[in-house]
Amino acid sequence: MSRTKDKGDAHGIFPAGSLAGVPDTPNGRLASTSVPIHPDLAARWSPRAFDPAAVITADQLTAVLEAARWAPSWGHRQPVRFIVGVRGDETFTTLAGLLKRGNSYAHAASALILVCADEGDDERTALYSAVDAGAAIAQMTIEAVSRGLIAHPMAGFDVDGARSAFKIPDGVRPLAVIAVGTLGNYAEVDDAIAERDGRPRERLPLEQIAFRQRWGIPLG
Ligand SMILES: Cc1cc2nc3c(=O)[nH]c(=O)nc-3n(C[C@H](O)[C@H](O)[C@H](O)COP(=O)(O)O)c2cc1C
Repeated sequence: MSRTKDKGDAHGIFPAGSLAGVPDTPNGRLASTSVPIHPDLAARWSPRAFDPAAVITADQLTAVLEAARWAPSWGHRQPVRFIVGVRGDETFTTLAGLLKRGNSYAHAASALILVCADEGDDERTALYSAVDAGAAIAQMTIEAVSRGLIAHPMAGFDVDGARSAFKIPDGVRPLAVIAVGTLGNYAEVDDAIAERDGRPRERLPLEQIAFRQRWGIPLG
């Protein structure tokens, strides 16, 4: 089977619901889906243009963290921890300084949230702590989108630098920094960022990732 990417054209695309509250996005960034999905899931994407003047309210920030807190957790262990910086404070400045150069766009975010996972004492616990962190990140991003914000997860940061700057205990793994903020103006960002964020959004088609009976037999 060929591994072509799904541009959506051939799949009877349904619009993904109301865009009320979602900022204008370049090129229409809505996910193409074969049946409608939750509008906030369809609207979520990972923009690189943040409005450098936008301020996140305390309620918005708390809501994003609450959404993460209520993510499912393997064995109800709750191993995920967050280090939260708001633009202008010391934590934000430190986190921004730890980002890899390619992620400098996130210096304009309203908040940077380092997501860490307590890996526990064995391989299985470590594995599911990362799964829990992924679930928390997913919930954070959707909560942000539901509030008209944007969120961009980034693994490109100095992990050892984060350990040392924030005195993160042994056994706790810094996994990702989530940039949260408001969509910026693409006329004001680097051309390379505008070009990259303007590319069509693509995913593998469902028939290449969802199987029945045996591995590789498409569901549809
Ligand atoms: C665990 C993880 C780490 C990521 N790290 C980065 C990163 O360091 N820099 C970046 O610009 N995007 C990063 N991304 C965003 C992905 O590039 C993005 O989700 C992917 O290209 C799909 O695009 P979409 O989120 O707009 O649908 C990361 C995403 C995930 C889930």
